[in-house]
Amino acid sequence: MSASPPASPLHGQRILLCVGGGIAAYKSLELVRRLREAGAQVQVAMTAGAQQFVTPLSFQALSGQPTRTTLWDDGAEQAMGHLELARWADRVVVAPATADLLARLAHGMADDLVATLCLATEAPLTLCPAMNHRMWRHPATQANVAVLAQRGAQVLGPEDGPLAEGESGPGRLTEPAAIVAALAGAAAPADPGDGALAGLKVVVSAGPTYEDLDPVRYLGNRSSGKMGFAVAASAARRGAEVVLVAGPVSLPTPPGVRRVDVRSAAQMREAVFAAFPADLYIGAAAVADYTPREPAANKIKKSSESLALDLVRTPDILAEVAAQTTHGLKLVVGFAAETEKVAEYARGKLAAKRLDMIVANRVGIADGGFESDTNAMTAYWKDGERAFPSAPKTRLADALVDLIAERLQA
Ligand code: C5P
Repeated sequence: MSASPPASPLHGQRILLCVGGGIAAYKSLELVRRLREAGAQVQVAMTAGAQQFVTPLSFQALSGQPTRTTLWDDGAEQAMGHLELARWADRVVVAPATADLLARLAHGMADDLVATLCLATEAPLTLCPAMNHRMWRHPATQANVAVLAQRGAQVLGPEDGPLAEGESGPGRLTEPAAIVAALAGAAAPADPGDGALAGLKVVVSAGPTYEDLDPVRYLGNRSSGKMGFAVAASAARRGAEVVLVAGPVSLPTPPGVRRVDVRSAAQMREAVFAAFPADLYIGAAAVADYTPREPAANKIKKSSESLALDLVRTPDILAEVAAQTTHGLKLVVGFAAETEKVAEYARGKLAAKRLDMIVANRVGIADGGFESDTNAMTAYWKDGERAFPSAPKTRLADALVDLIAERLQA
């Protein structure tokens, strides 16, 4: 008797695909095919611009449903009104999301069928931007994407690489297979965990550190702690004994995790070493690199036009953990938040800090990174790497902990 493969989390999902007017619209045809292969029902709506690139008939052939192109089609409205279509969807995916479409969505416009559907739906929204890289980088587009992400939209891409007009940069539509994987991740039920880390002790650092300047001020950073907390939760679900050394964040303690709250880099170092011996160290905290040489005993007064701070380096907890040999650690994992040359800088840190693995992500883009609930990242080790496409941090944490369990066996 042969077991049938497990159904995709997208099986039976109703996906409304909104296609914007960009050259990448042709890739959305493959997206429809892949979504249907995963068992999803797909209906397609196109902007007027999209129809300049691909015909509604092509989408109709692949989706098996009439393609919707206008608000003013009596026949289509009688079959399923646009508000009904907006309600029908379990998820709305906009691919490609052009600069113009993002602007209209950010401003709540309802000036065509696609914008109206996005405004009328209560289903979660996934945006897959694709455009010229200068249009993507423009502050107007960045602000629009930030607004949409803040309202809860999942933003996938754009990817870096050659663009249709012969230039290169961030602007390529995320590959349909990666979009489907991210949608499946978002639709999947929470990972129930397993015993992959049973019998192991894991120390995780998370969140920012605050370095006090005086009794009322500090130097901090924008780390939310969400990734480290998700990693700690995931390790605990896999049977590990977990100590979570948390910087100042107001997140709930994951079930089964022992939490130690700290404030400064020095306190974090102390708490981490106090938690040893352990089998694994996962340094997800954004530890301050500098701290005031001498915090002022009293509030610093604004008596002069400028103020120079005298800062000294903090201990590099991760490098120190990786360098010691007395605590029986089997694997040391660091994180790297970079604004550019992500792979190069991450591999540099992997070697310089003598880590077993480093997990890198790009920060400073509209979606992903510090304050976001979603992220895309790549794990690097000496002779390998694995990319994790954009997904909620809880899902990424599960995938990362699975990889860590795998590397422990290597
Ligand atoms: O060198 P960089 O700060 O970019 O490296 C980031 C990694 O190093 C993270 O895993 C972070 O937790 C760790 N780190 C540390 N102590 C520091 C600075 C960074 O443990 N003082």
